[in-house]
Amino acid sequence: MTIRDDAQPPAETVSQEHFLNLYLAKTDPWDLATKWHDQRKYAVTVASLPRAKYRRCYEPGCSVGLLTRMLAARCDDILAVDCVADAVERTADEVREFPHVRVKQAMLPAELPDETFDLIVIGDLLYYLSGPDLHTLIDALVQRLEPDGDLVAVHFRDREHGDGYDGAQTHAALAGHAGLRPLVHHDDEWFLLDVLRRVT
Ligand SMILES: C[S@@+](CC[C@H](N)C(=O)[O-])C[C@H]1O[C@@H](n2cnc3c(N)ncnc32)[C@H](O)[C@@H]1O
Repeated sequence: MTIRDDAQPPAETVSQEHFLNLYLAKTDPWDLATKWHDQRKYAVTVASLPRAKYRRCYEPGCSVGLLTRMLAARCDDILAVDCVADAVERTADEVREFPHVRVKQAMLPAELPDETFDLIVIGDLLYYLSGPDLHTLIDALVQRLEPDGDLVAVHFRDREHGDGYDGAQTHAALAGHAGLRPLVHHDDEWFLLDVLRRVT
């Protein structure tokens, strides 16, 4: 098995229609509820949050809401978004007992919230964006991250596709941003995780 870390962003951002069709074919398109590597990824993600509690969290690409549910215990308020209405419904159902979690439909980087956050968690999303959209989104996330706030990115390695699903370039772009200071770097055969803090 070869791990490739050299995949480049797609020429065009993967369309909303692409994801819509995945959810039409399957309620949990990536089997996030049952795959061990996703469950381990979520556990490592919440274990890597430097602070016990956060005031306001933004989670783009929430999919079926499994990480959203885990974050609900650590955050006073969460805005979770996904570009697909079915995913928004699944997440809302997953967190129905948590009134402090808001779930909305939004396509990034076009539809960004007019709010700031002390925590942003973005998992397995950035590698679907074109190079220009990736940089637009990273700048927009940094602008919405409060001074001293934490941004957590977690993305799988390119294990089997060989066609772009590789977190390395996206994490390098985050680590190189002047507004962010690296705090945690986790690198294993399955995924990369970085926690970066907004410089004050
Ligand atoms: C592979 S899933 C990742 C789910 C979860 N964040 C995780 O780490 O397991 C990617 C999710 O992001 C959503 N998504 C992809 N591109 C998006 C975009 N440009 N704007 C908003 N959501 C997007 C998809 O609909 C999908 O639900």
